[in-house]
Amino acid sequence: MTRKHGLSRNLTNYGDPDFALYLRRSFARSMGYSTDMLRRPVIGIATAGSGFNNCHRTTPELVEAVKRGVLAAGGLPLDFPTISLGEVFLNPTSLLFRNLMAMDVEEMIRAQPMDGVVLIGGCDKTLPAQIMGALSADVPAVYLPVGPMLTGRWRGERLGACTDCRRFWAQYRAGTVSNDEIAEIEGNLAVTAGTCAVMGTASTMACIAETLGLTLPGAAAIPAVHADRLRMAEASGKAAVRLAAEEVRPSRIVTASAVENAIRVLLAVSGSTNAVIHLTAIAGRAGIAVTHDDLNRLSEETPVLVNLKPVGSHYMEDFFAGGGVGALLAELAPLLNLDVMTVAGETLRDRLATPVRADRAVIRSRDEPFQKVGGLVAVKGTLAPNGAIVKRGAATESLLEHEGRAVVFESLADLSARIDDPDLDVTPADVLVLKNAGPIACGMPEAGYLPIPAKLARAGIKDMVRISDARMSGTAFGTVILHVSPEAAIGGPLAHVRSGDRIRFSTRERRLDLLVAPEELALRARSFRPAIPPARGYARLHHASVVQAELGCDFDFLTAAPHRRFGSAG
Ligand code: FES
Repeated sequence: MTRKHGLSRNLTNYGDPDFALYLRRSFARSMGYSTDMLRRPVIGIATAGSGFNNCHRTTPELVEAVKRGVLAAGGLPLDFPTISLGEVFLNPTSLLFRNLMAMDVEEMIRAQPMDGVVLIGGCDKTLPAQIMGALSADVPAVYLPVGPMLTGRWRGERLGACTDCRRFWAQYRAGTVSNDEIAEIEGNLAVTAGTCAVMGTASTMACIAETLGLTLPGAAAIPAVHADRLRMAEASGKAAVRLAAEEVRPSRIVTASAVENAIRVLLAVSGSTNAVIHLTAIAGRAGIAVTHDDLNRLSEETPVLVNLKPVGSHYMEDFFAGGGVGALLAELAPLLNLDVMTVAGETLRDRLATPVRADRAVIRSRDEPFQKVGGLVAVKGTLAPNGAIVKRGAATESLLEHEGRAVVFESLADLSARIDDPDLDVTPADVLVLKNAGPIACGMPEAGYLPIPAKLARAGIKDMVRISDARMSGTAFGTVILHVSPEAAIGGPLAHVRSGDRIRFSTRERRLDLLVAPEELALRARSFRPAIPPARGYARLHHASVVQAELGCDFDFLTAAPHRRFGSAG
């Protein structure tokens, strides 16, 4: 059977395919296209622009540039909107909607007649959602990140969303920044279109997308407002036409070897903890299992080479000027699988044959790494039988081995009600514990970066061990243990912790233990009551279907059964 192309793909089902095509052509002609144009291969452009998404403000001009590339290569570009997830505009939290967006992207790619697709996005959850959807639809696809913001200035200091947002907010809480000053700072933190200016979740995921081979070389780091970003958009449109002709699908690009490379890059940039969840979910769509053991093994072998906030001192615009992902991949080359294919139509080995100059202040050599081991590790133990994640690269060294008394908050509401209570019984050596902020409880908000209690912050305390089943913004820092699984809402051991219990945390041993006798925990478990599911709608679907953090928080009915592991062919 000959494969259908262009507008004749995916015909509307009237029981008469010829009628469906005739009707479709007729309606397409109503948009003013010539019949010549309508015979071309169709390249969809999935857009996620929205008045509620500042990061995607450049989407209209990127769409125009992609269209230019598609037309120049002989295709017909047709853009279409999908859900947009503006990180700071969503209640209760953007992750709750990532899978909804992934479903939207997948179904619209599959339902509409397109031979290839360019996906434009980048704000935190949009990139993983779009890639998850594209992988499941498995139509030839090129990813185009919108690119990072430029930094702002305040009193001579460079500011970038959002590590500096948090730094100054902590100072404001501690009383060292005034009301007037915080208002001035607020106006200078995010000064251009684009995604957050540091190695937060958006930048980490853009680097991962480029490493996976789903973007053209160099696409991750070009600033959103740089002219190169538009040239990248034009080239992405051209590439999509070629991929469509060659029928190179995302499932051929996202192999187990490519995922392993992506984990290496995640570790080498000391990237966001959120990226562990997203990469696990992306790999899951391709039938590839990513485990905490894989993460820990690769973390021991992969140095941190990139000196960017929140772990280091530079910003994404410096990473771009310093050589970007190309320079980083060249430095990591001996650790990478070089025969992986990319949407550029070349292997990683081919790509790295062209040398890229690295600015060593931003991208270090492997001989002089920024940190000797990877920025992220997984821990496990009686408090987290299925694991938890720590960004050791952003933690206080002296707290990486710690035992302390638990100070427990039962929920986000309890946290905000009591954290600044002057009578809160808390010392700097205690361990702050937040329950019921996991994926099933409330969509896993970025609440794991618990604020230092006000009375300790005013006394100069900047970090404490904090534990939760929540996530943390990729732009945050501190000794924060996240993604504890199973989460409290389904009766994981976290549900049974009480204030005054002792907790032991050892990064060296990869352990997180609740020092309470098993008999006592069994007794406490008897009074556990699971949360009542939401009554209706998407929240109900999410509650019933989301899997735990170590599996990527995808829906159980969307993830492919894992069948490929690292080291296997592909
Ligand atoms: Fe969009 Fe940070 S708010 S990437």
